[in-house]
Amino acid sequence: MGSNSIDSESSAELLQAEADIIRHSVGYLTSIALQCAVKLRIPDAIHRCGGSASMAELLAALAVPIPPAKQPYLWRLMKVLAMQGVFVAKGGDGDVYQLNTMSRLLLDDERGIWPGVLLATTPQFMGSAMRIGEWFTSEEDVEVTAFIMANGQNPHDTGGVDAEFNSIFNKTMAADSRFVADLVVRQCAEVFKGIGSLVDVAGGTGTMARAIAKAFPHVKCSVLDLAHVIQEISPEADNNNNVEFIAGDMMEFIPPADVILLKYVLHNWTDEDSVKILKRCREAVISHAGNGKVIIIDAVVGTPSPGLDLLQTQLLMDMEMMSLFMAKERYEHEWSKIIKEAGFTNYKIQPILGLRSVIELYI
Ligand SMILES: C[S@@+](CC[C@H](N)C(=O)[O-])C[C@H]1O[C@@H](n2cnc3c(N)ncnc32)[C@H](O)[C@@H]1O
Repeated sequence: MGSNSIDSESSAELLQAEADIIRHSVGYLTSIALQCAVKLRIPDAIHRCGGSASMAELLAALAVPIPPAKQPYLWRLMKVLAMQGVFVAKGGDGDVYQLNTMSRLLLDDERGIWPGVLLATTPQFMGSAMRIGEWFTSEEDVEVTAFIMANGQNPHDTGGVDAEFNSIFNKTMAADSRFVADLVVRQCAEVFKGIGSLVDVAGGTGTMARAIAKAFPHVKCSVLDLAHVIQEISPEADNNNNVEFIAGDMMEFIPPADVILLKYVLHNWTDEDSVKILKRCREAVISHAGNGKVIIIDAVVGTPSPGLDLLQTQLLMDMEMMSLFMAKERYEHEWSKIIKEAGFTNYKIQPILGLRSVIELYI
C-alpha cells in the first residue's frame, strides 16, 4: 500500500518513529525495572561490594535472595536499568555494574529517595494512571479523578483507611524532606534569619520541621497535618527536639506563626482551594504580628530553565497531579495569579532545588 513511494530517508524516519512508539508503549517497564531494583535492594548490594559488582558478586551480595533457577535472568533487568542511566555498565560484555549518582540516591540511607519509586508504582497509582483515558471520555464531574475512579477515594483519604499505602506515602514524603531539607538549610539560610516561629502546614511526619529546628534552634517549629499522619509519628523520634505536632485540617485552622511553610502541598490542590489555603496562611502570619511571610516549596514549570530533562519530569508530575487530585504543577503566571488572589503584595522565586523552587510570599 503505497510503500513504493517511501524513499530511503522517509523509511528511516518511519522506522525511527516505529521504534519510538514501541519504546513509549512499553515504557511502563522502565518504572517497573526501577521498582524491581528497589525491591531487590540492588543498589545496596552493589554498595556492599564496594560500589562495583560483577553479576556473580551482585547475586551473592543480594539480601533479598533470588532462587538459583531465576538468577541467570537478572542481567536482563540490569541491562535495562543501565540503559536508563540507573547504573553504569562496565567490562567487555557489560557484566560489571557500578553505582552512579542516580543509584546512590536509591541506597537505603539518610539521603535515599527509594520510597518514592514504590509509591509511584503502587497498585493505587498505577491503577489511577490506567484510568486517565476513561476519565477524559467519562461524563462524570471533572472532580471524579482517575485516582478516585480506580480507588474509590482520593489519595489522602486512601491513606486514612489503608495502613500500607499510608505508610509508603508518608515514607516517600519523609525521604523527600530529608533530601530537600539539607539543600534548603544550606542554600536558603537567609530565609530563616530573624524568625521566631514556623508552622509547616501539611508537614507530614515532620522531617522538614525537625531539620529546620535542628539547623536554626532559635526557631520554634510546629507541624500541622491530618490525624492519621500525626498518629504515625513515634514519640521517641521527638524526644530531643522542640517540634510540636498538631492534628488538624488546614482548611479550618492554621496556627499563627512568623513563617508558614507549604512544602509540596499546593500542587495537590486546585487553584480555588490553593487560594483558600493561602488566605488562611496569610491570616495566620498577620495575626501573629511582625513582618512574617509564607514560604512555598513546589515546582515552577519551565524553571530554572526550559531544559528538556527537567521540563519532561515537571510535565509528567503535572499529569500525575491531574490524575491524583485534579491539581497541577504551575507555571509562573499561574502562581502569580493565585498569590495575588490570596492578597499577597509580592513574591520572590528562587530556583535552587532542581525541579522545584523556593517561593517567598510577602504580606
Ligand atoms: C504531598 S504531602 C506533603 C507532605 C510534606 N509537606 C512534605 O513535603 O513532606 C501532602 C500532605 O498534606 C496533608 N494534608 C492533606 N489534606 C490536609 C488538610 N486538609 N489539612 C492538613 N494536612 C493535609 C497530607 O496528609 C500530606 O501529609
